[in-house]
Amino acid sequence: DTEPPTKTPSRAGFSSRLGFVLAAAGSAVGLGNIWSYPTQVAENGGAAFVVIYFLLTILLAYPALVAELLIGRYAQSNPVSALEKLPENIVWQPVTRLTALIAVLMICLIFSFYSIVGGWIMGFTLSPLLELLSFNTAAHWLETFSPARNLLLAVLFTIATLAVVNGGVKDGIERWSSRLMPLLIVLLLALIAFVTTQPGAMEGLKHYLVPDISRIDTSLVLSALGQAFFSMSLGVGAMMVYGSYLSKTSNLPTVAFQVCMLDTAIAFLAGLLIIPALFVALNLGINIYSESGQLIHSDTLVFEVLPALFGALGSFGVPVAIAFFCLMSIAALTSSISMLEVPVSCLIERAGMNRTKASTLVCLGVLLIVALVTSSFDPLFGAIVTLTTQYAQPLNGLLFCLYAGWLMGRNRKLQEIRKGWPEVEQSLFWRIWPWYIRIVCPTLIAIIFLAEH
Ligand code: PHE
Repeated sequence: DTEPPTKTPSRAGFSSRLGFVLAAAGSAVGLGNIWSYPTQVAENGGAAFVVIYFLLTILLAYPALVAELLIGRYAQSNPVSALEKLPENIVWQPVTRLTALIAVLMICLIFSFYSIVGGWIMGFTLSPLLELLSFNTAAHWLETFSPARNLLLAVLFTIATLAVVNGGVKDGIERWSSRLMPLLIVLLLALIAFVTTQPGAMEGLKHYLVPDISRIDTSLVLSALGQAFFSMSLGVGAMMVYGSYLSKTSNLPTVAFQVCMLDTAIAFLAGLLIIPALFVALNLGINIYSESGQLIHSDTLVFEVLPALFGALGSFGVPVAIAFFCLMSIAALTSSISMLEVPVSCLIERAGMNRTKASTLVCLGVLLIVALVTSSFDPLFGAIVTLTTQYAQPLNGLLFCLYAGWLMGRNRKLQEIRKGWPEVEQSLFWRIWPWYIRIVCPTLIAIIFLAEH
């Protein structure tokens, strides 16, 4: 098809503000919220971590989210073109372009490890169904770690992502995020209602909600900061590309705030589910602590403790298991579609490809990485997770704040925000945010980065 690269004003976009909020919240809400967050809470003294995490989400992740969305909406283009066009002084263009290329590469790497984990989750969703149909060998195979299973399930997860992204921004991403996100919230609430009525749950609730202030130290603050950053999909262009599809009449700081609140609320709810579930499991005699008294590793928690817990609930456990892993699959899928959209938007707009060709090509490339990772899982998987989430995301996020702060003049920022918020100049937001992302945000991120590495 000979459609020219999409340019303003014919550029596709989200059809409504709610559609945007659900899609961006869909990107933010993922394995980071439903798994990593509750595990970090459990490991870091419960409620003390929760308080610090909430503070840092507002103080750091929110202003950085506004910066990333703003760059995207201002440029009305894919992240590479957006960052390239941003500096007034062309001396900076190679630097910002390189940052964007690194972000695109990093999000492809994130997509590859996410596909593997997302695949496992799909496997755990399918396995109880197969068991119901008495395909016990196949069900067991899906739950047992092997390179072949890892690859096959990752292919399945990638195809699901591809199918949504192929549908385009409005009919694919927006439609599916708007359906899946409410479903996710309903499932989450139903599961919370179920788990909190089980014996042992109250112990878990106490651990989650009663803070032990003595647990707050620098390492807790640093993990909370890193968690907030990963959870809001910052620093790799996902929010930038969604920002480019946001209508000019939307009030950007407000919708960013709604996304931030939804992400935080769902993490909070996931905590209400998982932490009591851990104590319910403990009550049923399932071990959740390692020999040293620490909680066992997070991967083991989701893939061993929870299936064991569901198993111990008898026939009632089967629908609960299916609901839980469905919920995880949905959360993972609405995040992975935002990952795929970043390279796809670049190929459509910069190489003139059509959407189907671009998304198929990226998925094939990502599956090559997946094949490599599944064939020598042990060194590669951990290395990719560390490289992307611990180095690339904080470092690139710091650069995005600096670019929005210093390379995009105050006036351009003001004009862009004004389009959806005419009175912004008189607001408290405008009095704080411009210098905040110039100085405070980058400094805070630099501190996390230096202290962590
Ligand atoms: N925020 C997602 C999660 O919590 C992960 C993600 C990271 C999504 C980077 C997009 C980009 O799981």
